[in-house]
Amino acid sequence: MKKNYLIWDLPTRLFHWLLVLTFGALWGTAELGSEYMQYHMYCGYFMLFLIGFRLVWGIVGTTHARFSSFFPTVSRLKTYLKSTPTQEKLNTPGHNPLGAIMVFGMLLLLLAQAVSGLFITDDVFTSGPYNGVLEGDWQKLANRAHDVCFTLLQACIALHIAAIIFYQGVKNKNLVKPMITGKKSSDDVNSEVSIKHSKLILALVVAAVIAVIVYWLVVINAPVIEEYYYY
Ligand code: HEM
Ligand code: HEM
Repeated sequence: MKKNYLIWDLPTRLFHWLLVLTFGALWGTAELGSEYMQYHMYCGYFMLFLIGFRLVWGIVGTTHARFSSFFPTVSRLKTYLKSTPTQEKLNTPGHNPLGAIMVFGMLLLLLAQAVSGLFITDDVFTSGPYNGVLEGDWQKLANRAHDVCFTLLQACIALHIAAIIFYQGVKNKNLVKPMITGKKSSDDVNSEVSIKHSKLILALVVAAVIAVIVYWLVVINAPVIEEYYYY
């Protein structure tokens, strides 16, 4: 009889779906124009919180959420590419090494996108809290980074979704359901790799610490920029 085993903890799943929603909101508010820029920044701060949380969760989180468990080393890649379906089941209960390249790529791009946002301005009403810190070419570079990272992110997300459809269509593997329920069936994983629980108390502590750090960064520590109004 088929059994289900917990692989993705609740914090990782919440992180993923909040990431999708926040990304949509950031895209939407950027498209809607300057009246929505204030909301764009609030969503951007939330994105910084999400990425900050995931970076720490990648170190202290549950087994399959830890970066060390899925860091795509050359030997892991070789083993994965040569493995039979049974070996694959044993070796990659979480992200496989190819998917992991994309995961790290997307996390780094999202971080660069959110950090560059802190330094830029739309030249009309809205500026990131650290906009006054950079000058000249550095300012332009931050604006450019915010543009380029977004284009790269769109490409990565398209590939990410295409890969998920490929796994469903060609390999007959549903990856989306485990990202919702946290569980994979005994067809895909062995019982020993199941995690026992989601470490929720630790996740709450990490989330609280990251929230304080982001608040300090974007509110308390943000330099006061003098505004000049011309009439
Ligand atoms: C804004 C769009 C998206 C971004 C930025 C994104 C980003 C990510 C990231 C960073 C991970 C790694 C999760 C972790 O370990 O913390 C991931 C995994 C995953 N995402 Fe997305 N994602 C997006 C949209 C979607 C959508 C629309 C779906 C489903 C239809 C989806 C399904 C999945 C699944 C199934 C995994 C786990 C893959 C695996 O089993 O290795 N993602 N995504
Ligand atoms: C991952 C997070 C973020 C995403 C996906 C994102 C996405 C975007 C996009 C698509 C644009 C439009 C670019 C253009 O029209 O050239 C934009 C512009 C902008 N974003 Fe973000 N953003 C993020 C984070 C932030 C943050 C944290 C801030 C500031 C606190 C910020 C501030 C701005 C500003 C001021 C602009 C206007 C720039 C201009 O008009 O050239 N963004 N963002």
